[in-house]
Amino acid sequence: MAERTYIMVKPDGVDRGLVGEVIKRFENKGFQLLALELQKPSREHLEKHYSDLSAKPFFAGLINYMTSGPVVRNLLMITYDNAIQLRKKQTPLEVAMVWQGKGVVKAGRVLLGETNPLASLPGTIRGDFAIDVGRNICHGSDSVESAEKEIALWFPNGVLSHKRVTDSLIY
Ligand code: TYD
Repeated sequence: MAERTYIMVKPDGVDRGLVGEVIKRFENKGFQLLALELQKPSREHLEKHYSDLSAKPFFAGLINYMTSGPVVRNLLMITYDNAIQLRKKQTPLEVAMVWQGKGVVKAGRVLLGETNPLASLPGTIRGDFAIDVGRNICHGSDSVESAEKEIALWFPNGVLSHKRVTDSLIY
């Protein structure tokens, strides 16, 4: 099977309308989109996705960021003493994607840039569009092994596998 990676546009990237920008860069490079879904992951799901980082001091902030939503819904709540309260509930939206191609895991990380956007070169997604490590727009798997784990977590029903006509022009 060809190499695959899990790429995600985080809530700030979705909110800022950068989904197309991320897709464009992977398409321009020649990688193949296998799956794409706008998802509303639960806090538990995100804690699983980032389980390797659970001991890090920034973990709580990271999960809060990933569960912060561009979509804010107003909820009318009736409290125990029958008062009516207006509460705001945020809906996190992430764009989950699977991309395929030769060397896509490592090359995908190059397209994304460094974890800290200030250390990312212009020409990379984080280098061009972000400043803060806590708002770095996108995620990309860091190894083939973690890519397959993340694909299974975000796409539990599997993803399509198909061969493109244009592969013969790229390879
Ligand atoms: P990490 O897996 O180290 O980086 P990457 O996303 O480049 O694979 O960290 C996951 C996310 O955690 C990172 O995208 C942003 C956040 N983070 C912080 O908020 N502060 C930090 O100091 C680090 C290293 C990461």
